[in-house]
Amino acid sequence: MPIIKVHDKSFDTYLSEEVIQNRIKEMAAEISRDYAGKRPLFIAILNGSFMFAADLFKHLSINAEICFIKLASYKGMKSSGNVVTSIGLEDDLFGKDVVIVEDIVDTGKTLHNFLPKLLHQQPKSLKIASLLHKPEATEYPLQLDYIGFDIPNKFVVGYGLDYDGLGRNLKEIYQLV
Ligand code: IMP
Repeated sequence: MPIIKVHDKSFDTYLSEEVIQNRIKEMAAEISRDYAGKRPLFIAILNGSFMFAADLFKHLSINAEICFIKLASYKGMKSSGNVVTSIGLEDDLFGKDVVIVEDIVDTGKTLHNFLPKLLHQQPKSLKIASLLHKPEATEYPLQLDYIGFDIPNKFVVGYGLDYDGLGRNLKEIYQLV
């Protein structure tokens, strides 16, 4: 497996394209079963989740809607922390079955701060689907309903995730050497 360079750092292949895609198909099947007969609204959190959201969404076998919102930006290699506002949430969530789509839950702060805003709109249900989760890094309690992979507390890039703006186009996920 090749070592790649993004900016000044070296990264090792960690999850292959095939492994990622197979897991996403499993997640889509599970979500389709859980929401059979319903019409959930997927809220994908930009930028990092755009690839995961697209692949997850195309494997769903139920009727579903999707929208994309933007929260805080993530700078450098540590979580930026303060999440203040969301841009692009035009749908009224009242009475809807909502599924949040995230690329990665690290400290959990982003979602922990954002969920009350969504719950305020009184959705019928609210679940979270995250491709990656770093259990050792999580400081804010969150119930993650669908997790692709639990990963070690190491910085990763690829498949939508960036290091200072680069690396999002990689089909695989790479871990900092
Ligand atoms: P949290 O608020 O600490 O859970 O961080 C969530 C956000 O930080 C994610 O949506 C990512 O955009 C970003 N992030 C956290 N860990 C990584 C990583 O290892 N690589 C790239 N981005 C990350």
